[in-house]
Amino acid sequence: MIKSLDMQDIARHAVCPPGQHHLFREKLDEHGFVVLQPGEAGDPALDLDAVMAQLGEPVAYGFGTKLALQPQEGSGNLQFTTRAMPLHTDGLFNAGPQVRYIGMRCVAAPLTGGQTLIASNAAFFAHAPADLLEILRGVTIEYRNRIPGYYRDHPEAGHPQVAPIQDDPVTGTTRLVIGLTDPDDPTRTHDATVVGHTAKESTALLGRIRAVLHQPRVLYAHTWRPGQVIVQDNRQVVHGRAAFPGQPRKLVRLSVA
Ligand SMILES: [Fe+2]
Repeated sequence: MIKSLDMQDIARHAVCPPGQHHLFREKLDEHGFVVLQPGEAGDPALDLDAVMAQLGEPVAYGFGTKLALQPQEGSGNLQFTTRAMPLHTDGLFNAGPQVRYIGMRCVAAPLTGGQTLIASNAAFFAHAPADLLEILRGVTIEYRNRIPGYYRDHPEAGHPQVAPIQDDPVTGTTRLVIGLTDPDDPTRTHDATVVGHTAKESTALLGRIRAVLHQPRVLYAHTWRPGQVIVQDNRQVVHGRAAFPGQPRKLVRLSVA
């Protein structure tokens, strides 16, 4: 079977209805993410810990392993606001094992906005202009963490410099490793600059990456329903979120290596 490179098509196949949850690993590996639908009212809730335990060992952050993602009054950390989270790969700053799978369970969903955004690396490579890919193969991006105490800092405390296109030794495929950021957001988790580029050139290049990642054939926006679980393969997709001003939203996240 030829793998689809259209994210809307991929997203349709990534849904795992109740009764098919035993297929979730297969779908996850094939599509880069999977949406586990909860059963009927009265059925036992999907157990995020049990799902993720099948995939690896929990990754520890500065706060521990499990995180309640919900707005916190006055937070200076974008994660805990209602703002949009730009697309990124997890694990750029965190010392310790690389995040392989990210699991999230929805406790409360906003009525509008707050979608989890998932972009396929394979679709990005298929649809990005050739000159952009060539430029990306020749650069590294420096990331500066702005949120102390959230990640586990590397002992050498340097700023990670990361190639945006990498050959993945685990999957044998080419991988996009990126941390987009909004320089105008005072709660942003980090800054990103292309090494050797001026600020203006950096912004332009990161903007071109963003534009491709946000094409509908590359990006899927998932509207949450309480009880759903999404598992993403951090090596096959990048993720972010849409803003949800003035609304509640709570996801519980557990990532494994
Ligand atoms: Fe993330």
